[in-house]
Amino acid sequence: MTERAPVPVETQRLRLRQLTEGDVESLHAIYGDAETMRYIGSAGRPTPDVDATRRTLEVLLDHGRQHGFTLWAIDERDGDPLVGVAGLLLVEGRGPEVEAAYLVRRDRWGRGYASEVLRAVLGIAESLGLERVIALAYPGNDASRRVMEKAGMMADGTITAYGREMTRHAWSPPRG
Ligand SMILES: CC(C)(COP(=O)(O)OP(=O)(O)OC[C@H]1O[C@@H](n2cnc3c(N)ncnc32)[C@H](O)[C@@H]1OP(=O)(O)O)[C@@H](O)C(=O)NCCC(=O)NCCS
Repeated sequence: MTERAPVPVETQRLRLRQLTEGDVESLHAIYGDAETMRYIGSAGRPTPDVDATRRTLEVLLDHGRQHGFTLWAIDERDGDPLVGVAGLLLVEGRGPEVEAAYLVRRDRWGRGYASEVLRAVLGIAESLGLERVIALAYPGNDASRRVMEKAGMMADGTITAYGREMTRHAWSPPRG
């Protein structure tokens, strides 16, 4: 049986929990925003409407059912639900490599949320026994690379993924 990620997980200010179909409108506030999506996926374009975001949500829920991990909702413990999503995905939906991914709603950028949550995501990866997690970024996405470095990921060259040249960072669990 596929091992399930141990969510919900709480950090100092945030909570990672399973997405549900009821999150679709809040999710579209993120996936429908052009500035948020300019460095995401193969197109770097926003999702055009709520129905398209619903299809993305279904893919994410299915990924979780199949593999035990996916993107999770980021809730503020003392504020709004769903101010972002973060988690673990098979690269290009196939793997074998597993990538950490995160998107924060634009009005919450610059508060340290992505770094706080990426550390928690890597903790989940460790509890799942993953030996390596990578994170990919468009070459122009300096803020995202900074997040990777603050969470302890190391620069690991470039690869072609999602039809694009991407920078790669990598993480492995501490030996002990
Ligand atoms: C990238 C993103 C996740 C960052 O979220 P965040 O919660 O604002 O990130 P944090 O506050 O934890 O950290 C951001 C860091 O990048 C730095 N930063 C921000 N903009 C930057 C830029 N243009 N160039 C370099 N560094 C930048 C910040 O100063 C901060 O570093 P610091 O703490 O040393 O000052 C958010 O902007 C986002 O969701 N972007 C759209 C989706 C995306 O690109 N996801 C990643 C795909 S690889």
